[in-house]
Amino acid sequence: MLKLLFTPIQVGKMELKNRVVMPAMHYLASWEGMVLPHHVDYFAERAKGGAALIIIGGCTIDEASGAVNMLSAKDDKFIPGLAGLAKVVKGHGAKIAAQLYHAGRYSHSMLMGGKQSVSSSPIRSRFTGETPRELSIPEIKQVQRNYALAAGRIQRAGFDAVEVIASAGYLISQFLSPLVNRRKDEYGGDFENRVRFGREVIEEIRRGVGPDFPIIVRVAGNEFMDGGLANEEARLFSRELENAGANMINVTGGWHETRVPQITMGLPRGGFVYLAQGIKQAVSIPVMACNRISDPILADRILRDRQADLIGFARGLIADPELPNKAREGRFDEINYCIACNQGCFDPIFEGKPQTCLVNARAGAEGKRTLEPASGRKKVMVIGGGPAGMEAARVAALRGHEVCLYEKNECLGGQLPLAAAPPGRAEFLTFVRYLEGQMKKLKVTMHTGTEATPLQVEREKPEVVILATGAKPAIPGIQGADRPNVVLAWDVLSGKADTGKEVVIIGGGAVGLETAMFLARKGTIDADTLYFLMFNQAEKPETIQTLLYRGLKKITVLEMLKRVGQDIGRSTRWAILQDLARLGVRTLSKAMAKEITERGVVIEREGREELIPGDTVVLATGANPVNSLYDQIKNRVREIHMIGDAKSPRKALEAVAEGLEVGRTI
Ligand SMILES: Cc1cc2nc3c(=O)[nH]c(=O)nc-3n(C[C@H](O)[C@H](O)[C@H](O)COP(=O)(O)O)c2cc1C
Repeated sequence: MLKLLFTPIQVGKMELKNRVVMPAMHYLASWEGMVLPHHVDYFAERAKGGAALIIIGGCTIDEASGAVNMLSAKDDKFIPGLAGLAKVVKGHGAKIAAQLYHAGRYSHSMLMGGKQSVSSSPIRSRFTGETPRELSIPEIKQVQRNYALAAGRIQRAGFDAVEVIASAGYLISQFLSPLVNRRKDEYGGDFENRVRFGREVIEEIRRGVGPDFPIIVRVAGNEFMDGGLANEEARLFSRELENAGANMINVTGGWHETRVPQITMGLPRGGFVYLAQGIKQAVSIPVMACNRISDPILADRILRDRQADLIGFARGLIADPELPNKAREGRFDEINYCIACNQGCFDPIFEGKPQTCLVNARAGAEGKRTLEPASGRKKVMVIGGGPAGMEAARVAALRGHEVCLYEKNECLGGQLPLAAAPPGRAEFLTFVRYLEGQMKKLKVTMHTGTEATPLQVEREKPEVVILATGAKPAIPGIQGADRPNVVLAWDVLSGKADTGKEVVIIGGGAVGLETAMFLARKGTIDADTLYFLMFNQAEKPETIQTLLYRGLKKITVLEMLKRVGQDIGRSTRWAILQDLARLGVRTLSKAMAKEITERGVVIEREGREELIPGDTVVLATGANPVNSLYDQIKNRVREIHMIGDAKSPRKALEAVAEGLEVGRTI
């Protein structure tokens, strides 16, 4: 079925066994730039899984290039650690490259021991809230030498290639783009001058590493910044890079400051392939397409259509390190696909936490969270078929236990189908489908539509019970909460409850905002209709925009805290708020709901009472655990564990991690 994904390709003098590449994802759990044992475990697992090339890093190249806890190539002392990692990865049959990283004005002083960041010009960064220092010409030459020195270290450490990041709005982009390059010397002004810094970096590296060592450059296919460079300039830039000695162009999306989502689930799968396609038309070296291509069938189609020569699977390989091997063997239904939620991988960066993954809780702790065969086969009864219960069942069955699972609803997945209900969030169902498939494959005996009772537990005679009975919506003690015009957010999302024309949602956390999105999109046009109208020029562009943004309902979200969406990760929150604003949803923070009437919700805000009108009031006011069975059975079973929301309502990330932990330790 796959024609090209598993065919070899030449990048300069480097032969890759297939077209699957793991692009760089900086991994913050380093200690002063050193490679640590968990890095080795992490990358070894991806190498074993069948990827042809693994790009580690970004790696800092000098003191001002990035955070202290990123991997580094800024000194010879890092070579032994890098060499050890390279040996292991290569031992598993993959090639290894390192990304050289200089974030320029995107480096935060706090993460660089108080040092001010540097850039082409002193333009304040919205990303860090800080203003960088302009590099002088001698400093520019030094930074370029630092790139070359770092590349030399990577080469000496036995790596197969080096990559330079010239995208994302980092230092090389900061020279290339007129948005922040205001220099008057030979490094600023027209395109030729702005391209000089990046071109010279590649030339300097080439001089250092010799003619045969492959150099990859990662470029922004479009900066996606107002007044910034688009794909046309990225093509010209890529051609310059090729002339300067680059052997491959890795194409990603825009800058960190862009308001166009780059890696959220809102970006359709393969949504940025057109950027790589544009660049492929401008250069003769191999081009890699990236972002949201976690599906090997899609990847193969991109290659067959000659839109790109290689495919970057970044989070796809966090989610499932074995994805390439499974795809090569045609085991597509066994792949645990990335759902682009960012909860475990990208969001923790902002809190300085290490990487993990919602759908693969082993990610980042491969050496610790190992899955050993069970020492004795036990009968395990899992109660609850949400993410926590199914993950526990999967892991326990994988280790050789005899597992049965009880779920009171007909459908599995717990709250994941609710999370998947708003437009653009359907990826959550991908994980449910994977877990369902695993239940079948691992022969977990399923009892859906069956509420587990103490009697049933007695009949099953399990040696271990895992209680993963989830949560139910919390009803706040607001006067009028029992009125007929009040519905629960979960019921709205599941289609059980209807709403009127004017809706007030109480609770501006993730569930409240997602419900607002779900309702606000009612009556707007879908993707196919948009395509039809645009393609046939059937409506004026202004009319199409109105049809996209204006639905049938007027929606207000009330949140008593200072900010709405407090429980949503930083990489996704801004995109959700932007969507809601475009859809005309009003959000009111610091708004305390006092009473629900037939005319709406009376709130108190900044000392004043006000009626927020609405014919329907939706409650999105949190959840309470469902775990009464625990007390009823705890004295009747030998071993009992409570996990996920049944223990305390949190995110799916925690639920899955607890499922894994109990599954691998019983
Ligand atoms: C946790 C995390 C860290 C990342 N760090 C880097 C980085 O250091 N350098 C880089 O070029 N891209 C970085 N990226 C972007 C990825 O390489 C990739 O382009 C992005 O995740 C989209 O591809 P995907 O949808 O296949 O994950 C990072 C992404 C994630 C999720």
